[in-house]
Parts: sequence; C-alpha cells; structure tokens
Amino acid sequence: MKGIILAGGRGTRLYPLTLSVSKQLLPVHDKPMIYYPLSVLMLAGVRDILIISTAHDLDAFRSLLGDGAPLGLDLDYAVQDEPRGIADAFRIGAGHVGSDDVALILGDNIFHGPGFGEVLQSRVASLDGCVLFGYRVPDPERYGVAQADATGRIVDVEEKPTEPRSNLAVTGLYLYDNEVVDIAAGIRPSARGELEITDVNRVYVRRRAATLVDLGRGFTWLDTGTHDALTDASHYMQMMEQRQGIRVGCIEEIALNMGYIDAESCHRLGRRLAHSDYGQYVMRVASSTPALLATT
Ligand code: DAU
Repeated sequence: MKGIILAGGRGTRLYPLTLSVSKQLLPVHDKPMIYYPLSVLMLAGVRDILIISTAHDLDAFRSLLGDGAPLGLDLDYAVQDEPRGIADAFRIGAGHVGSDDVALILGDNIFHGPGFGEVLQSRVASLDGCVLFGYRVPDPERYGVAQADATGRIVDVEEKPTEPRSNLAVTGLYLYDNEVVDIAAGIRPSARGELEITDVNRVYVRRRAATLVDLGRGFTWLDTGTHDALTDASHYMQMMEQRQGIRVGCIEEIALNMGYIDAESCHRLGRRLAHSDYGQYVMRVASSTPALLATT
C-alpha cells in the first residue's frame, strides 16, 4: 500500500501563525505537526509516501524529512498549487499510487490510542473498497458525517450537514483500493469549488464498498484547526510525556519498533538531536533494545 500525506491549504484560521509557516509544520509540543500523521502511516506498515504541499512550503518539508531513508522510508514530494480539495490528492498522486491501494491522511490530523497500529495493519491487509475511521464528537456538523449499519457498512456519508444524522465524524484518515484514482478523476468540484473527499466516499457507499471503523471511547483524535485546539493538542502530548514517560508520534521510535531501522541507526538519529529532550528520548529508546546493547 502507498501513502499520501496532504499538507497544503492556507491555514487561514491560524493566522498570523501560518502567514509564513505551513500549518503542518507548526509545533505540537515537542515535534512538528506532520510527525503525527506520518507516524500513523508508519504504524500501518506504509513506507512509500508522497507528501503534498504548496510550492511555497514544500522545501521546508523536504529539509525536515528528506528522502526518508534514515527512517527506512521512501518519501517523495509533490506540489498542490491551489487548495482544490482533498480528493485532488489522488489526481496529483496518481503516478505515485500506480496500481496499488493507498492510505490518505490529512497532515493536520492527530490520532492516538491503544493498539492503533494493529487495527490499521489488519484493515490494510483485508482492504476491500474503502475504510473510513469514525470518531464520536459533540459537533458533527463541522465534519464529514457517516452512518453505518450494525456490520460497519456505511450507508450514508455527508459533508458538514446542517442536520447531522449521527455524531460520527469521519476523520482525516482514509484507506482505499486502487479504484480511488479513477473515482477521484471523475468527480466534479462542489458548490464551494473543491474536489470533496466526501464525494469520493459517496461513490464507495453507493457501491456498498465503504466500511466504517469506530475508533471508540478510549481513543483520542485531535483537531488542530484553531489556536485553542492547537494549544490543547500540545498540552495533551505534554501530559502523555510527563505522566507516562512516552512520546506520541516519535517517528524514530516507530521506525525502530516496526523494524524499518535497527537500534544503531535509531541511536544515530537521536544523537543528531541530542541537545533536546526529544533526542535524548530517542537515544534511550534505542539503547534499551537488546540489539544495540549487544553491539555496544
Ligand atoms: O479533519 C477531518 C475532516 O477533514 C473531515 O471530517 C471532512 O470530511 C473533510 O472534508 C475535512 O474537512 P475540513 O474542513 O477539515 O477540511 P479542510 O478544507 O480544512 O482541509 C483539511 C486539511 O487538508 C487542511 O490541513 C488543509 C489540507 N488541504 C485541504 C484542501 C481543501 C490541502 O492540503 N489541500 C486542499 O486542497
């Protein structure tokens, strides 16, 4: 399966923070926002990833993440010159997707929950049609909203309905079979002039090929769309670190745990950042694995 991180847009709701810096590069506690969605793809076992952003911001992403090789990844970059909609990712990324399945994640979506990696890997392995991830929210009218039957088959999905028929928001993580490339090529811009991901999802719903995974109560899905939400996300990550001593979205640790890199390479990545607590954490994680202890 291929991956796409969509990290464009203008971030106008976060002005002046985003006047010169991409939203998806803003800090969420100890790391740039894009580390969190990148972590999700890595946990899903997806290593060949296209990062899409604006012409203005793409170089900053490139200098942050490079070709991904030190993390055992294959990262590529593409420009979206105008925010033409989320489904535009499949037009831009058609060559990258080729004949594979694809996971799309929005570069400003943060997920955290127990066993998420296993859930993702099993959904990737059994993918048939599309899989959307739902999260119960008090304000569904701000999101895509799904309705599913008892088996998890989606029977309806609407974009920001004024009268939502459920409180299940569709999160910004989507798994699709290869059909998505043709489906996205065939949809038309909505009234607000965008290629809506919800219109792509509605095609799958009509084909009875859309499945919903309810992320459930123990799970956290964080919004970063406003100044307050961004600060809350930072506080959440800070609390996880201070209470549990873990770092969420640490891409070096995930690369190690997923077997993409060995402990020595992980330690090297930590040393590069050794002046920060984050770098020290990466080095500690690497040192505590048997492989490195055996070689040092
Ligand atoms: O976050 C989940 C929600 O994301 C879903 O529930 C909705 O169904 C989906 O439409 C989307 O809603 P948003 O209102 O959050 O979409 P927004 O236009 O804010 O775009 C989400 C992110 O994607 C944002 O960080 C910018 C980026 N983006 C968006 C568009 C339209 C791009 O990079 N390019 C684009 O053309």
